[in-house]
Amino acid sequence: MNIFEKRESVVRSYCRKYPVVFKKALNAEMFSEDGERYVDFLAVAGSMNYGHNNPEIKKAVLDYLADDNIINALDMYTSAKEEFLTEFERLILSPRKLDYKVMCCGPTGTNAVEAALKLARKNKKRTNVIAFAGAFHGMSLGSLALTTDKTSREGGSVPLNNVTFVPYDGTFDSLAYLRWVLEDDHSGVDKPAAIILETVQAEGGINPASVEWLRGIRQICDENDILMIVDDIQVGNGRAGYFFSFERAGIVPDMVVMSKSISGFGMPMSLLLIKPELDIFRPAEHNGTFRGNQLSFIGGTAGIRYFTEHKLDEEVRRKGQIIEQFIQKEILPMDARLVHRGIGMIWGVDFNGIASEKAIEVIHKAFDNHLILEVAGRHDGVVKIMPPLTIEDDTLMEGLQIVKKSIAEVLN
Ligand SMILES: Cc1ncc(COP(=O)(O)O)c(C=O)c1O
Repeated sequence: MNIFEKRESVVRSYCRKYPVVFKKALNAEMFSEDGERYVDFLAVAGSMNYGHNNPEIKKAVLDYLADDNIINALDMYTSAKEEFLTEFERLILSPRKLDYKVMCCGPTGTNAVEAALKLARKNKKRTNVIAFAGAFHGMSLGSLALTTDKTSREGGSVPLNNVTFVPYDGTFDSLAYLRWVLEDDHSGVDKPAAIILETVQAEGGINPASVEWLRGIRQICDENDILMIVDDIQVGNGRAGYFFSFERAGIVPDMVVMSKSISGFGMPMSLLLIKPELDIFRPAEHNGTFRGNQLSFIGGTAGIRYFTEHKLDEEVRRKGQIIEQFIQKEILPMDARLVHRGIGMIWGVDFNGIASEKAIEVIHKAFDNHLILEVAGRHDGVVKIMPPLTIEDDTLMEGLQIVKKSIAEVLN
């Protein structure tokens, strides 16, 4: 028995799917301590959008470390945070004509979701929040109440409440249902402070919402004095083909939650973006020790510079087409029951029409074939393709060929 099995809690999960000891990683390749090479189609669940050990971002981090600069500072003013906020305003907010206050939250995505919930409820003086079937927003109790998968919810072991779920885009007439819920004074649903959504449900099985639906939600929020919160933790930072995933719909949410790739280098960081008039917490009302990880600010600054200078949004749209065309031409013809969904560089191949467990078999085969691939969605039945955005074209093609080969091995 190795030290992990002997000493680490049984709650560990990804290591069961990829049972080697990893040591190194470079852009879209990961290497085990035995020197085996794996193509990475997971990007550490979307936190390595700019590639493992991206040299431009790494240089900024190493330079900062080499100079005895401050590493952690609570939420004190620091040069690193000053530079991050300045560049975030210059490169991200201003060109998009967005005016958000930036709240630095505890280091994981779920903490920023908690902050968004608290702030929405405080602003509107209402407890209920509307979320969508298929949503994933995190594991702490407030976020878990918004998260839909059964296993995660059972892990909470307490009632998860103050949330009403409605169907997401593509299930029934979701907008009409939502309108009815809000407008019928006998619907039995308390008026919510906010509606929270992912513009592409990632853990929920790669479900991209349509532009019309997203605009419809914005309109419903406006008409009913409800805040719109977009959780861009997984599909922001360029994943959906734009820095913010909602840009494609031309809408402006009231709050935006960011984490995962926002630190540029895979370091822990999360932010809540808030329309200025909603920024009403009293000092320290949502606090936390690790809101000032300076290496994350340094990586984050280098990350948004990298994103902008390399026009990564255009790259994502180009590579997204390569992925979609490959799926259409090479994968879907293998079985008429396969379904694909996606946008930008997040794609899913849905096996639920065949047998959901085939998806898990595919990712095991893929690992045997040296590709890191994950499942998502209902019954874990969707194979999820999500490489670093910076993946080289030939590595992308190599990975896609492994997906094809692995599916063929499972279906035959
Ligand atoms: C959309 C979304 N929201 C929230 C979270 C939670 O983030 P964290 O795991 O950093 O708490 C995740 C994590 O996968 C996510 O994908």
